[in-house]
Amino acid sequence: MNQITPQGGTDALYERVRHLVPAMEWETFLADIRAIETLKRERNAVILAHNYQTPEIFHCVADIRGDSLALAREAQETDADVIVMAGVHFMAETAKMLNPHGTVLIPDRKAGCSLADSITGADVRALRARHPGVPVVTYVNTSAEVKAESDICCTSGNAKRVVESLGTDSVIMIPDEFLARNIGAETGIRMITWPGHCEVHERFTPEEIDRMRADNPGLVVLAHPECPPEVVAASDFSGSTAMMADFVRGHASDPILLVTECSMSDNLAIQYPRTAFVRPCNMCPHMKRITLSNIRHALETMTHEVTLDPELASRGRRAVERMLAI
Ligand code: 13P
Ligand code: SF4
Repeated sequence: MNQITPQGGTDALYERVRHLVPAMEWETFLADIRAIETLKRERNAVILAHNYQTPEIFHCVADIRGDSLALAREAQETDADVIVMAGVHFMAETAKMLNPHGTVLIPDRKAGCSLADSITGADVRALRARHPGVPVVTYVNTSAEVKAESDICCTSGNAKRVVESLGTDSVIMIPDEFLARNIGAETGIRMITWPGHCEVHERFTPEEIDRMRADNPGLVVLAHPECPPEVVAASDFSGSTAMMADFVRGHASDPILLVTECSMSDNLAIQYPRTAFVRPCNMCPHMKRITLSNIRHALETMTHEVTLDPELASRGRRAVERMLAI
């Protein structure tokens, strides 16, 4: 997670992104970037941006950048009046759970997630009934209703630690089947899974990685743990988006393949211009619903505000706070 304080006006901002954003495209962003900076000051607002946001959002208007875990922590700690979530809906709901008195805005309500859509609170109750006494670990990529039925949440950045902290032989780990199988392989803990998949990461294959290795000698392959286990097994490292960014920092002289969403490589290429990134690039259509213009609109109109049923929010918060305490 990094703080950005734009200095030197929009020219300095353009210097950050110029090798990925053509000058003509930059011209189309300028009015929104200037308006957003003014609105942030007027509203006492912060923009939290996930690592999959496009460079003009991530590098030019975001105040806080990071993976799901970092964004949740920052949402809890910020004293801003307004949080704009440049990410997807479950991230905005988590921010609202952790910052119940703040106003949380999501620029497009339809910015969803195939994992969050794969499971309901009733599904979790049915799983518990089938496996009495087995703790339920829920990935943060879920609705507030599903979190409310869970014992503890996890993100890809802390899943191993969360699962191990429970001290049980078996865990119900939902809804990402691949994350559960990857963490099961790392920990030896028996995973009861749910057939939810990330529509971006499920498309990568080990054959694709083998081809890229053959074409790029010395390639270091980093895969997100939402990828199928065969893809993680074919990689050199697996971790959350922030863990991948940390890894790149330590290996900035190697050619790197990021087996994850497209904008992650774009954003890191801006930070590490001398690193050669190989990009198989699958795009998350939900993350891409967030744009400079709808961020500006969100701040101008104070829409779309994320609200939660208080009882549901309080039960979901328990599961998220239990995770943050680890
Ligand atoms: P991270 O927590 O690793 O940023 O992952 C969130 C996500 O949605 C990945 O697809
Ligand atoms: Fe959901 Fe996958 Fe998009 Fe992440 S990349 S928000 S897990 S669909």
